[in-house]
Amino acid sequence: MSIHIDPLEKRWISVIGGILIITWAVIVYYAAVDDVSPPSNVEVIDSSKLHLASGVGGGEFMEKNLGVKQDAQGNITVTMVAARYGFYPLHVDVPVNTPIKFRMASFDVLHGVLAPFSNLNVMIVPGYVSEITTNFTKEGDFPLICHEYCGQGHAYMYGMIHIVPKDQFKPKMGVK
Ligand code: CUA
Repeated sequence: MSIHIDPLEKRWISVIGGILIITWAVIVYYAAVDDVSPPSNVEVIDSSKLHLASGVGGGEFMEKNLGVKQDAQGNITVTMVAARYGFYPLHVDVPVNTPIKFRMASFDVLHGVLAPFSNLNVMIVPGYVSEITTNFTKEGDFPLICHEYCGQGHAYMYGMIHIVPKDQFKPKMGVK
């Protein structure tokens, strides 16, 4: 016994199926060609111990360890905490056209961060480190915007990123 499906309904099933296939193809295309994919760093952390040296990662997210560092090989890492209602450090300077690794953790609730003209667009989930590597191709000052509703001050939660010429870049630690 076969189920009767109205011809009009059949047509809509193929339209929806077609939309699904196109959407899937676009996602696969951009993942393959532009390396655009959802962040997938699964690294757990105890959010209640972020400020302590005994926390996971040996105090990576303690106040004194936040900021922009450069290692001996020249790799740049921005270590940042998101907390109601701001990003710490509030201002970061990074060089243009350079791979920059962001490591971010939340102190309290779910936040997000988005920087225009880049692939920096990630949720900051309490209990996990959000890690993303990006490359800014435009010099200038841009806001870092929280894009997950985190409370009454959500609309005021933003930081600033200053993208400077390579020869003007200096790593700077601290939360100011
Ligand atoms: Cu933090 Cu919205």
